[in-house]
Amino acid sequence: MDQIIIQGGAQLSGTVKISGAKNAALPLLAASLLSDQELILHNIPQLADIDSMFELLIQHGVQISKEGSTITLNARGVVNTTAPYELVRKMRSSIVVLGPLLTRFGKARVSLPGGCAIGTRPVDIHIEGLRKLGAEIELEDGYIVAKAPNGLVGNTYTMPIISVQGTENVMMAAVLAKGETKLINAAREPEVVDLALCLNAMGAKIEGAGTDTIIIQGVESLNPAQHTVVCDRIEMGTYAIAALITKGELTLTDCDVSLIPIVSDLLIKAGGEINLLDANSPSKGFHIKTISDNICGVDILTEPYPGFATDLQAQMMALMTISNGASMVTETIFENRFMHVSELCRMGADINIHGSSALVRGVPQLKGAPVMATDLRASASLVLAGLSAAGQTIVQRIYHLDRGYDNIVGKLQNCGATIERTKASS
Ligand code: EPU
Repeated sequence: MDQIIIQGGAQLSGTVKISGAKNAALPLLAASLLSDQELILHNIPQLADIDSMFELLIQHGVQISKEGSTITLNARGVVNTTAPYELVRKMRSSIVVLGPLLTRFGKARVSLPGGCAIGTRPVDIHIEGLRKLGAEIELEDGYIVAKAPNGLVGNTYTMPIISVQGTENVMMAAVLAKGETKLINAAREPEVVDLALCLNAMGAKIEGAGTDTIIIQGVESLNPAQHTVVCDRIEMGTYAIAALITKGELTLTDCDVSLIPIVSDLLIKAGGEINLLDANSPSKGFHIKTISDNICGVDILTEPYPGFATDLQAQMMALMTISNGASMVTETIFENRFMHVSELCRMGADINIHGSSALVRGVPQLKGAPVMATDLRASASLVLAGLSAAGQTIVQRIYHLDRGYDNIVGKLQNCGATIERTKASS
């Protein structure tokens, strides 16, 4: 098993190209199932989760070819509408094939994903939404067995909780349903907007993505299309925090800081300065640096978009561990997303958890230690902590990082970090 070894203390300086968003790319790949025409997706990141989605789509019968970060998909010859447990348990986002398979083929059998390290993560909203469109759904032997032999029919569905993939799944199903579907209390995340843009390029009729009400007029079939995946705002936020935690400066390209509105405000409050790249520069992006010797403590409350993303909570908490003052970090999206806290404390952080909040009292410096990654974003927070700590940090179980960070070691090395990936001895 691989591990990452970091010698902390180097101030980062350089340029990082931000990849396409994992959480946009996954449903976009699944959207290929909606059509018998070619879908070409540009800017697909190289990640283990993307490979898992390829594996799933290939076993459904989708033809996939790759050229760099461009992927061409053709779902003309789908042979199988079952998403098996062995693949879904590897990656719970596999659930987004349910809506497309059901609406195009009138049937789908998708394994229930089960819980994960950050929470129980039920899929009841996906199921209820599809039932609203007329699907008959039973749970059998750990599988969601969905049928709509005469096709789905548009309806109004008020989502009881804001769910990103729930919105994506029902929106994709509604694209080929008869008549109009209205999704109220829909997720407003940029990844939902990106999916709607791609679906519209394929010939869907979707309005309102990015607001809390999405209206979809069903169409009979879709066209060939091309789409470029939006930048990964979580990767962008992680590198912005890396600049501040090492008291360094980074230029982040191929990205859009307006996609992390609350996060960027808090990074500025914490002592960062953000300047957009010149309009004449070859790529869109921004420059971030620390302008104060001390990081200020700021309070963080995770919320659905445009609030502070739960996927950046662990990384921001790593920054707060070395702040001058205290910070209250409140997690409102997932019930168990503080797994990084005990590992950060092993590096000398002063953090106390009270229910869904963590009180972080800043310390002058963290100390390197062997630590264990527990989930994707927790792993990123440990890498950030290691970059700033005195001495050596060894991050184990880094397969979590491979799921969501495209070449994190190479990107950090290019900016002066002393970091390497090695084989663990046992
Ligand atoms: N929820 C339900 N029922 C459902 C669906 C969700 O109760 O049917 C609850 C969840 O348990 C959670 C809340 O609703 O408490 C929000 O979950 P959501 O459905 O929005 O999460 P998701 O769509 O499964 C996506 C991202 C996550 C990210 C969340 C929240 C993808 C592939 N995943 O998950 O990303 O944390 O939205 O923003 O888009 C990550 O990248 O590390 C990651 C976990």
